[in-house]
Amino acid sequence: MSERNTIAIVDQRSASAPAATRPRIPDTPAPRNSLLSDGLGRPLRDLRISVTDRCNFRCSYCMPKEVFDKHHQFLPQSSLLSFEEILRLATLFVAQGVHKIRLTGGEPLLRKHLERLIEMLAALRTPDGTPLDLTLTTNGSLLTRKAAALKAAGLQRVTVSLDGMDDAVFRRMNDVDFPVADVLAGIEAAVAVGLGPIKVNMVVKRGTNAQEIVPMARYFRDHYGGRVILRFIEYMDVGATNGWRMDEVMPSAEVQRLIDQHFPLDTLDPSQPGETAERWRYRDGRGEVGFISSVTQAFCGDCNRARLSTEGQLYLCLFAQQGHDLRSLLRQPHPAGRPYTDDEIAGAIGLIWQDRSDRYSQLRASQPASSATAGRRIEMSYIGG
Ligand code: GTP
Ligand code: 5AD
Ligand code: SF4
Ligand code: SF4
Repeated sequence: MSERNTIAIVDQRSASAPAATRPRIPDTPAPRNSLLSDGLGRPLRDLRISVTDRCNFRCSYCMPKEVFDKHHQFLPQSSLLSFEEILRLATLFVAQGVHKIRLTGGEPLLRKHLERLIEMLAALRTPDGTPLDLTLTTNGSLLTRKAAALKAAGLQRVTVSLDGMDDAVFRRMNDVDFPVADVLAGIEAAVAVGLGPIKVNMVVKRGTNAQEIVPMARYFRDHYGGRVILRFIEYMDVGATNGWRMDEVMPSAEVQRLIDQHFPLDTLDPSQPGETAERWRYRDGRGEVGFISSVTQAFCGDCNRARLSTEGQLYLCLFAQQGHDLRSLLRQPHPAGRPYTDDEIAGAIGLIWQDRSDRYSQLRASQPASSATAGRRIEMSYIGG
């Protein structure tokens, strides 16, 4: 197997926190409401906030059990951003153009009192006075219990991960013996309280769950009046622990052809610039499906996403090797001995975004992922999907 098509498994059990640089503060901060554009002309619209690096699943493509075992050191409570710190940063991001906030993890519903954070974020308004698109990615395991409280707190919608309809396949993939029925019950609860439009994300691994593609499509066509949007995700070479191999990637074009043979599809126009999924609809009107093709058809060209880690580091790409330590601006004093002001922190965020040139997936084809660089990349469970 050539280096280009494989990522070596790196043992990160004793790895320290990923590298982070201390942000620069501009001499004259720009007005706080100015919209940002990066080095490739891309705006900043979407902020993904990871609220915990822990998860109760051990999906092989994300937190393989052999690495994330009882010796793995998760972040200590003291290094997590508090809800107040998250709100302070989110407010500055929203003033500079962010209009969608997604809470992720790990599994975000494991973070205690998450509803409080949702209430705080739901009160934010964009500069033109609109509420945020406030959403959350979950494995669904706690959704039956929490859906009503999440809705009441002001969450608009959820995206649930589910990798198959067959119980044995799904239990093997989550590697903690979690049953499909409980995730379906979580989706049901989310539908019942109106956390929609609900999306279901399925990561497809050839040789592991490709046989689940058609049953998944069939299930979500046949339930909820086609209102749950199923999306198929190409297995990505994210992080450094999942032992990614190109031969386990099933290209979206192949998945789409397979579904089309059973349930004919027509293309749909994108609903928003920079979105991850290519959208299709069933010709018979039974809803929509999406394909997220980060390996075979990179969508970096208009990537408007930034990611804030659980401990307050800002990452400009899912495949970044280095973050920007915003937490230091929240917790450490300015050299003048006083706290940093909101204008200064907003200015630092502006400089970071303006310097951005990340487009990993686009470059992947020409720059083979060597195990040397793979070793330093952040994990999906640390930064969130
Ligand atoms: P919606 O607003 O609901 O459409 O969400 P989204 O598609 O923007 O976000 P979601 O977190 O549901 O993304 C689904 C999956 O797409 C993630 O779990 C990742 O596997 C992948 N993905 C999301 N954002 C990016 C990205 O910026 N780059 C790459 N390479 N993959 C991404
Ligand atoms: N490839 C593609 N998607 C991944 N996710 C995690 N790891 C990977 C990977 N290696 C995504 C899945 C999951 C979400 C939490 O993160 O979409 O649903
Ligand atoms: Fe947990 Fe989601 Fe990662 Fe699976 S993909 S281990 S559910 S964070
Ligand atoms: Fe954005 Fe990086 Fe994903 Fe490209 S690889 S779409 S730049 S996060």
